[in-house]
Amino acid sequence: MMLRKVVAKTGETVYLRPAVAEDAADFIRAVDGVAREGAYFLRSRFEVNLEAEQTMLASASDRGDLILIARAEGEVVGWVTLLHPRAEFMQHTADLGMGVVGPWRGRGIGSALMQYALEYAAERGIEKVRLGVRSGNARAEALYHAFGFVEEGYRLRDVKDLEGCYHDIIEMSWFAPSPVPAAQEGGSGA
Ligand SMILES: CC(C)(COP(=O)(O)OP(=O)(O)OC[C@H]1O[C@@H](n2cnc3c(N)ncnc32)[C@H](O)[C@@H]1OP(=O)(O)O)[C@@H](O)C(=O)NCCC(=O)NCCS
Repeated sequence: MMLRKVVAKTGETVYLRPAVAEDAADFIRAVDGVAREGAYFLRSRFEVNLEAEQTMLASASDRGDLILIARAEGEVVGWVTLLHPRAEFMQHTADLGMGVVGPWRGRGIGSALMQYALEYAAERGIEKVRLGVRSGNARAEALYHAFGFVEEGYRLRDVKDLEGCYHDIIEMSWFAPSPVPAAQEGGSGA
């Protein structure tokens, strides 16, 4: 699974593919732009070292991470990341983060990115994909529900924004269609 061509609801051709080192500057610009809106992420800037980001993108697949970008009209217009946790007992899970730059929202790009990411997860045997969304982010919540994510709980007042307002984080997860059965509590007694 590599390059995927999709058509935005507004007709533009959008290409989805894992990011490579050469995408670093455009990727940083896209993430920083959404971060600067101050309403969605856990920080208001994404100012990272270009070379470090190039190295990070080039080595993502070696770490088992997916960093997928959507490109249209020469720009990175959206992305989704699926990060592999380090903890030994969480190897069946991944952490998802995503964004679409302002003018490109509502055109189906977020849905296309999510579709690709969940297919990638299922193909690699990832059983659980986890994310956190700020309560009140209606578009993101709608997208996650549409793809079968379920709410697991709220982290109350987890975010304090630039205006000093508190926001809860909703923990949501997607479970692969045929998960391995959970371990039985207490065993069979045999
Ligand atoms: C959340 C986000 C990634 C979704 O990407 P997108 O390209 O805008 O999403 P899509 O166009 O695929 O639309 C997703 C769904 O949300 C629905 N939707 C759009 N606006 C909505 C709104 N204001 N309220 C509720 N649902 C809404 C759409 O109906 C669509 O469903 P449909 O395809 O069945 O019609 C994008 O809007 C974004 O980056 N927002 C800011 C950053 C962010 O919130 N990131 C996620 C942090 S957890």
